[in-house]
Amino acid sequence: MAFSLSYSTIGNYGSRSSMAAANRGSSDSSSNINDTFGQTIFGKNSKSRESGVARVATDLPLVARPPWKQVATERKLAAWTSVQQDRWEGELVVQGEIPQWLSGTYLRNGPGLWHIGDYHFRHLFDGYATLVRLHFDNGRLTMGHRQVESDAYKAARKNNKLCYREFSEVPKHDNFLEYIGDLANLFSGASLTDNANTGVVQLGDGRVVCLTETIKGSIVINPDNLETLGKFEYSDSLGTLVHSAHPIVTESEFLTLLPDLLNPGYLVVRMEPGSNERKVIGRVECRGGPSPGWVHSFPVTEHYVVVPEMPLRYCAQNLLRAEPTPLYKFEWHPESKGFMHVMCKASGKLVSFIKQHIYNGRVIGVIVDCCEHDANPAILDKLRLQNLRSWSGDDALPDARVGRFKIPLDGSPYGELVDALNPDEHGRGMDMCSINPAYLGKKYRYAYACGAQRPCNFPNTITKIDLEQKKAKNWYEEGSVPSEPFFVARPGAKKEDDGVVISMVSDKNGEGYALMLDTSTFEEIARAKFPYGLPYGLHGCWVPNR
Ligand SMILES: [Fe+2]
Repeated sequence: MAFSLSYSTIGNYGSRSSMAAANRGSSDSSSNINDTFGQTIFGKNSKSRESGVARVATDLPLVARPPWKQVATERKLAAWTSVQQDRWEGELVVQGEIPQWLSGTYLRNGPGLWHIGDYHFRHLFDGYATLVRLHFDNGRLTMGHRQVESDAYKAARKNNKLCYREFSEVPKHDNFLEYIGDLANLFSGASLTDNANTGVVQLGDGRVVCLTETIKGSIVINPDNLETLGKFEYSDSLGTLVHSAHPIVTESEFLTLLPDLLNPGYLVVRMEPGSNERKVIGRVECRGGPSPGWVHSFPVTEHYVVVPEMPLRYCAQNLLRAEPTPLYKFEWHPESKGFMHVMCKASGKLVSFIKQHIYNGRVIGVIVDCCEHDANPAILDKLRLQNLRSWSGDDALPDARVGRFKIPLDGSPYGELVDALNPDEHGRGMDMCSINPAYLGKKYRYAYACGAQRPCNFPNTITKIDLEQKKAKNWYEEGSVPSEPFFVARPGAKKEDDGVVISMVSDKNGEGYALMLDTSTFEEIARAKFPYGLPYGLHGCWVPNR
């Protein structure tokens, strides 16, 4: 199992990749939206010109190409094509002007290698992790990428075959005994992948960890050169196999959810900086269905943790299958309903659980905004690589919106789910959100996400959502697919949207570039072409200069 994306938050509730909620009406507050290169390039940036081209790495230095042939794809987009080589690093030529204040490193993780030998993976989430690094310094930009050296990746390279269970792929067995051994290892977790291909976070103590939904897929890397340093070993004995791919990480804590597959429920746990020990804040019992729902991400407020229990639930039978089912390791149980559990962070006590229902006129306690897929899990199938690579031009992306959950804390059994804004404002596409991190868990106004310019089969715009005005501004370039727009605030900024968003774009010519938008105007201020197009990436983090 394992895996990722923002798409995971589908449900009667939907949810999102980076949740957010805002505080309204009660004494507590709330959470937030939460789900090519070369010498011919540009160079308006005078610093780049002066220093410039000579320092641009025009050769592809280093490192052995993996023993696999590049996959030919039906589309030119590099987004769905395996990374061309294990690693690369060099300075990019900048077109436009990168603000001098933008100083630090944006790390982005995601699946980037989708084949072993002649065997091709099927699903976007199966790929071996490719880390990309954009280092900003004084208006200049250096890019690097490198594979995360998980046990799953190293074993695949060594044996030239799949050796661990990925999102949809299962190792092939030569005989029945091997099959039985694999099942036994599944129960112990030994055969689950540690392919940390979903996100990357910097802990409060400075350590940088790549993550996926298997707990064993927590891998420490060096943000300066992307070297894999080793496993992040949790020192407690909580014993579960999976966790949320999107922990809430601040300078003072690491919060996450651990679905309990044996006794359906969720543990809410917290880890302090400098520690590897997760301590249990509290436990939520599932209220419906045979197993916990997929919990890819979750929102927090200053005082509460919100635990979404979605009707897209883990399925033991599907976990055991050798071939993927339409919903992979999950099953859709709409009859089991969806729930939002609200837990007090200090006491671990539940203060509310809310069934989905429309109602009017109650006191509102917590607001949670989610990327919401209209109670339709179809997006999982849309993310099969064949679908992504062979798009015919028809409109194939399922509708999504910013769903706003209004959760009363007065004991009322029902909350309300409404549109936070008209979904047509962002083309009825919605995922890969970020906000100004200073507004985490607080009332906020702006979110940045990928929306849609239709027809399309994947989110293809960058959108700035104004939740107060209920409007969106959209960046779009025909045929291109941008990745997560990541917000970085200008130091000393007073306004919530004073900063830049960074994205990596896969363009229609098979190439790619880093894109920087001024978040106030939402206009492009700079771009820098990569030496070659990079595979699509999922989630990232900002590492300030030390
Ligand atoms: Fe995600």
